[in-house]
Formats: sequence, structure tokens, C-alpha cells
Amino acid sequence: MKFIAYNVRPDERKYFENWSAKQDIPVKLIADEVKSDNLALAKGYDAVISFQTGTYPADFFDKLAEFGVKDVSIRNVGVDNLNLTAAKKYGIAVTNVPAYSPNAIAEFSITVLLQLLRQQNIFRKRMAENDYRWAPFVGKEIRALTIGIVGTGRIGKAAIEIYKGFGAKILAYDPYHDPKLESEGIYVDSLEELCGQVDVLTLHMPGSDKDGHLIDEAMIANLKDGAYIINTARGSLIDAKALLAALKSGKLGGAALDTYEYETPIFNHDLKQTGVKDELFNELVALDNVIMTPHIAFYTETAVENMVNISLDSAKDVIMTGKADTLVDLG
Ligand code: NAD
Ligand code: COI
Repeated sequence: MKFIAYNVRPDERKYFENWSAKQDIPVKLIADEVKSDNLALAKGYDAVISFQTGTYPADFFDKLAEFGVKDVSIRNVGVDNLNLTAAKKYGIAVTNVPAYSPNAIAEFSITVLLQLLRQQNIFRKRMAENDYRWAPFVGKEIRALTIGIVGTGRIGKAAIEIYKGFGAKILAYDPYHDPKLESEGIYVDSLEELCGQVDVLTLHMPGSDKDGHLIDEAMIANLKDGAYIINTARGSLIDAKALLAALKSGKLGGAALDTYEYETPIFNHDLKQTGVKDELFNELVALDNVIMTPHIAFYTETAVENMVNISLDSAKDVIMTGKADTLVDLG
């Protein structure tokens, strides 16, 4: 048995090397993501371990079938960029890592809320100009706020636990009600209702492939004046133009965005030479009441280690037994 892993970052190498030594299974490490011109490297390997947010080559599974690859194990959650119909046609198993560390994302969503509440952009700018005054940028405490959780899955639940520690009032909307949270009485019946009652709306649900945004101009109008929006989920959930308008008009108090509608050509790229050409993005980033981060909520040592180990364990399980706990349903 031998595996090939693509898009391996320097911070992942040690986890791959340790797993490979411990299991005595060779894993070839490739720094580039999967592209048409490096796909042939997978010839002769049993499994491909990959991680990419952008597109895979159109003939990805056709070629892997030709090369005798039996499994693709991705190191992240989302399989929206994989042609699962093609995987099924060729009988290639696909696995993902559905829960590498919900806490990583939950903690981050609260970190950026705290930065917003304490007006960190403004104080950083002032200090860079040797201005160390306080007024009038007084902050807010989380315990004085009502937090609205959208999506009470793994990450939403982890966030709720942390917010409880801060002493916040918590409300939530999710079409599926978790029995324990239900017994705590935190659910409201609609997103509109949630918006009307909270000071902070924090998104922890999957992105939708349907047209239209969950948070558009009309939904923003339902929010209290001065409310904050935190999005560590998916950029597609928020109409970024409507958000910008609401931030500029003062309707919203601030936004922390770890995901952005048009992030693919920007996030995790070195754009020092060219800058960012997306005017909407540039306008958002320039606002004092916006914290923009390049999709790094997941990026902790714990999460990275789990992403590597769970994907490799899954590939091994599939090759040895044809099964794995993390098998993706190919339809
Ligand atoms: P999960 O599947 O455990 O939970 C998602 C929850 O959203 C479920 O309870 C589901 O019922 C609920 N939901 C679905 N549609 C909804 C709707 N219309 N309104 C309200 N709730 C709805 O997923 P998770 O592990 O908690 O992850 C949530 C999302 O976080 C992922 O889908 C992904 O988009 C995002 N994510 C971001 C990062 C990052 O680095 N920024 C990392 C991992 C995941
Ligand atoms: C996920 O795992 O869904 C993420 O958002 C993080 C990853 C794609 C970088």
C-alpha cells in the first residue's frame, strides 16, 4: 500500500512523516495542489490525499481510475469541488474529515468578535501614529450582549459552550433542534425572529449552492441597529455588497469575516506584487468596523494534525477494508 498527498504545506509535513513512519506506509508528499500537469504522479498509488478549496482538473477521477487509484481522502470537510458522480462511476471511494476541530473555528469566531467589540482596528491605527488616547472608543462586554447562533451543529455547539463561559444570553436558529439545547430553550422559530432579538449574529451553517444569500439587504434590515455579524462559515451566505452598505450607513456596528463571497483568488495567495483587484473587498477591508481574515479559523495545530491523521487513517481503512467512518455518500 502507498499513498500520494498533494498541496502539502510545510506545517503539515511532520504529521505526514510521523504517520508514515508509525504505520510503515509510504506517503509521497507533493507541495503543489492537484493540477492537470501533476496528476500523472498519482500513477501506481492506492490513494490520493488532497486538500484544495478551488477546482480539481475536470478529468480528475477519469485519470485516477486509469492509474488504478482506489481512494481519494480529502483533509477538509467540503466535497463541493469534487465530481462525486465520476467517483461513483469508477468505484473510487471518497473520504473527508467532518470534524477536525470544531473548537478551532468556534474560538476564532469569538476572538474576532472581541476584537470588534474592543475596537482593535482603531487602537492599532492610533498607536501606529503615537496616539495613545482612549476616548471615545469605549468597548462592550460579551456578557452584556445577546448572541444569535445560526446553525447549532458541531461548531455552533462549541461556540455556545464558550459564550456560556462569558455569561452571554444565547439564542439560536436551526431547522434541526438539538434535544439538549431545546431543553435549554434557546431556539427561536425563524432567522428573522433571531435577527430581531440579538446583538451579534454568528453564522455556523453550511454554504448553500442555491441562488441567493441567507443574509441579504432584507435580512440585514431585520437586525437591531448597531448589531454585529460574524461569518466564519461560508462567504456565499452573505451578500457582501449589502453588508458593505449596512456597515457604511451605520445600520450595522461591525462585521468579522473569515470567509468572503469572492475569496478564492485572494485567500491563501501571496498578492504582494499585484494587490487585490476586487474593489468590494478593498472597501470592506478599509473599514474600521471590519475584521477581515483569510479563511484561517480552522488553522490551528490541533486541526492540522487531525486533518492529516484522520485523512490518512481513512485512506488506510478504505484500502484495507473497503470501509471508513468518514466515507462520503456518493449518492
Ligand atoms: P455541522 O454539519 O455540524 O452543523 C451545521 C448546522 O447547520 C446543522 O445543525 C444544520 O442543521 C444547520 N443548518 C443547516 N441549514 C441551516 C439554515 N438554513 N439555518 C440555520 N441552520 C442551518 O457543521 P459544522 O462542522 O458545525 O460546520 C459549519 C460550517 O462551518 C461548515 O459547513 C463550513 O461551511 C464552515 N467551516 C468553516 C471553517 C473555517 O475555517 N472558516 C472551517 C470548518 C468549517
Ligand atoms: C472547511 O474545512 O470547510 C473549511 O472551511 C476550512 C478549509 C477549507 C480551509
